[in-house]
Amino acid sequence: MDELAKRAIEVLYGNDRGTWTRPSPRLYPHQWSWDAGFVAMGWAQLDPMRAIAELWSLLRGQWSTGMIPQIVFDLNVARGVYEPGPNSWGTVRHAPPGAATSGICQPPIHAIALARVREVASTRGSATLREVDGAIVDLYPRLERWHRWLRTARDPDGTGLITILHPWESGLDNSPRWDRPLSAVEPDEVDDLPRPDLTYVTDPGERPTNGEYQRYRYLVDRLVAVDHDQEKAMANHPFRVADVFFSAILAAADDALEELAAIAGRPEAAAAHREDADRTRAALDAAWDDELQACLDQDRITGRAIRSDTIGGFAPLVSGCALDRSAVLVDRLLGPTYAGADGLAWPLPLTTAVTDPRFDKKGYWRGPQWPPITWLLWRGLRRAGHHRTADHLRSTAIEQLRDTGCTEYVEPFSGDALGSPSQSWTAAVALDWLSVDP
Ligand code: SER
Repeated sequence: MDELAKRAIEVLYGNDRGTWTRPSPRLYPHQWSWDAGFVAMGWAQLDPMRAIAELWSLLRGQWSTGMIPQIVFDLNVARGVYEPGPNSWGTVRHAPPGAATSGICQPPIHAIALARVREVASTRGSATLREVDGAIVDLYPRLERWHRWLRTARDPDGTGLITILHPWESGLDNSPRWDRPLSAVEPDEVDDLPRPDLTYVTDPGERPTNGEYQRYRYLVDRLVAVDHDQEKAMANHPFRVADVFFSAILAAADDALEELAAIAGRPEAAAAHREDADRTRAALDAAWDDELQACLDQDRITGRAIRSDTIGGFAPLVSGCALDRSAVLVDRLLGPTYAGADGLAWPLPLTTAVTDPRFDKKGYWRGPQWPPITWLLWRGLRRAGHHRTADHLRSTAIEQLRDTGCTEYVEPFSGDALGSPSQSWTAAVALDWLSVDP
């Protein structure tokens, strides 16, 4: 068996909790929302119905509003192992009975994952496909509610862009994109700050700073203070940003939901998903900045675009966009500020432009290369017909993974494996990439 596939399978089994999967053994001991989507695609390569179980496990935490929370907590994990833990979120009244969850969300990768699980199942014989299609009948309405919640609670004016209320919701926690809006957040008291994450990652330079964590915790407290009332938070919360990368993932997921609607026996619902996706694509087009040649997040408090040169600017490659725009973005992605930067161990996308003063080669989402982000770009490029570029990314990423193993992220110049080792979503994208014929 291929050596990388073997390692990836070991990582998934090592993190397997039966029906759900830890993102990593120590740093992330609960079930995370967008990790679970990627992880489902990894399990699909081994057993499509295990992939379905992963999604159902996550949906144990889905709120009656439709929100899929960022974390579904494992209550067997000792107190203090991960912070903020289940007691910090004030969510008892909101989470379904028997589930403990956080009170924010993460990028909606799930419909993309489910469509991919089905694609894999269709290569495994008609009985497997029938089983997966049966599951889609029940999963589709849950995902439809999730998307509807995002498009109402988080975009009440129908702009096509989704507002996030916490940097953790973006999934790209400490990206320089959030520096400015986060600096305007003023925690009123600095309490003792538990940082168990720093006991698992020895170099604190690989994790967000204490200053960021104080604000992260304060934003959680503010959401608890309004009892997670979305209307109130959308009016007064101190961090409100229309996130273009999150929105692009939603558009791509709406496209996937359009396909799934037909399988679920709801063909009449397909058109609405397409309209939603197209509305977001139009909004991303309008958020384009000619000077930076990037799509920019919008600070909903100041009304201003957030000018930063990060991977977020490539959102239209993830959602799909007009050919001339994708051509510009491909040039930039492969050019000297991203994958073509001088001295990179592997020419893969950076999470922040090397020329951005805030670029930090070790700093979590401030520079390092992240396989799931490369996967999202690869998928978008492939769908848009940029086959050569897509395959170049895929084969380079596989080469990198053979060297780094299934690490959380990679220092782009030394090629060192950073963050948590044995990261499930890295293993998942490795298995997915290895299954694809160029
Ligand atoms: N990524 C976050 C963490 O580092 C949570 O979503 O804990």
